[in-house]
Amino acid sequence: MTTMMALRAHARGGPEKLVYEAAPARAPGPGEALVAVHAAAITFAELTWDLTWTTRDGRDRTPVIPAHEMSGTVAELGPGGAATGLGVGDEVYGLVAFDHDGAAADYVAVPAAELAARPRSVSHTEAATLPLAALTAWQALVDHAALQAGDRVLVQGGAGGVGVYAVQIASILGADVTATGREGQQDYVRKLGAAAFVAVGAHGTADYRAAAPGGGFDVVIDTVGGAVLDACYDAVRPGGRLVTLAAPPSAQRAAALGIHAMFFVVTPDAAELARLAGLVDDGRLRPVVSQTFPLREGRQAFESAGLPHPPGKTVLLVR
Ligand SMILES: NC(=O)c1ccc[n+]([C@@H]2O[C@H](COP(=O)([O-])OP(=O)(O)OC[C@H]3O[C@@H](n4cnc5c(N)ncnc54)[C@H](OP(=O)(O)O)[C@@H]3O)[C@@H](O)[C@H]2O)c1
Repeated sequence: MTTMMALRAHARGGPEKLVYEAAPARAPGPGEALVAVHAAAITFAELTWDLTWTTRDGRDRTPVIPAHEMSGTVAELGPGGAATGLGVGDEVYGLVAFDHDGAAADYVAVPAAELAARPRSVSHTEAATLPLAALTAWQALVDHAALQAGDRVLVQGGAGGVGVYAVQIASILGADVTATGREGQQDYVRKLGAAAFVAVGAHGTADYRAAAPGGGFDVVIDTVGGAVLDACYDAVRPGGRLVTLAAPPSAQRAAALGIHAMFFVVTPDAAELARLAGLVDDGRLRPVVSQTFPLREGRQAFESAGLPHPPGKTVLLVR
């Protein structure tokens, strides 16, 4: 087994547990591709997810490697991997399963069938911001909220990693989008396609009541959780859809109001990734890079979560 450089945590915890070190690079298994990672994006909250640390049946899987979306080049195919049509040298991007080692490393092994050709009109760094964040936004709006052109949509956290794509995709699909976020992010989020923007106020939530259509929004996407999710229920029109990403909604509250509320976890989908790559290459969907860090400074990348940063995703530069 060869070695590679990786960002790893040997015990559960926050960014302080992350170390940049040599780690084993495993050979691709049946149906897998080993991808030479060029860039990997992080999700600030991922160190709090159980699946980052344990298998699906609860067994400890430390040491772990974070960062579950990446763009890179196929370096090797495991047995049967070529059946997907992928070849060594192909430039691909993909979502790495949350209960597997992530892409904050020189190499990552991923089922070949879950990879798609990366958008070629943008850099690996930009492409790496899409497979988790944009796919989550797509699945929230299209697969779960069944968005229709003309729907009035509220995106809570419109400048965040998922939010910048929820705003753009909803707008591309013909929705009328209102977004919330920090004061200084208004101009940027409007350029992404939000018709209205409501800034977070002194109480830590955005008061979007004045921007809400009579009767409420058709669709609300909550990427924030907590008090923000609490306020979302009343923003949805009766019969409308609330999709939550940070925490599951209250089924009782939703039933009492006559709204459809749902939580889901994004799943790999090569066909949807190909569709997103097409939107990027057509110039309709803009990848949004908030900030970049070299892989060896991955700990600082996670530590930047609480600091002011531009909209979009934080990316680790690997090659
Ligand atoms: N279920 C799934 O499949 C799935 C997939 C991806 C992500 N997630 C979850 O979704 C959540 C968002 O992920 P992300 O990567 O988009 O995180 P993120 O980049 O941190 O985005 C969250 C955004 O919300 C903003 N925000 C914070 N408080 C707010 C408020 N009161 N009103 C409006 N905006 C506010 C944040 O601003 P500041 O940065 O200035 O605080 C940030 O721009 C996380 O909990 C993550 O675990 C779930």
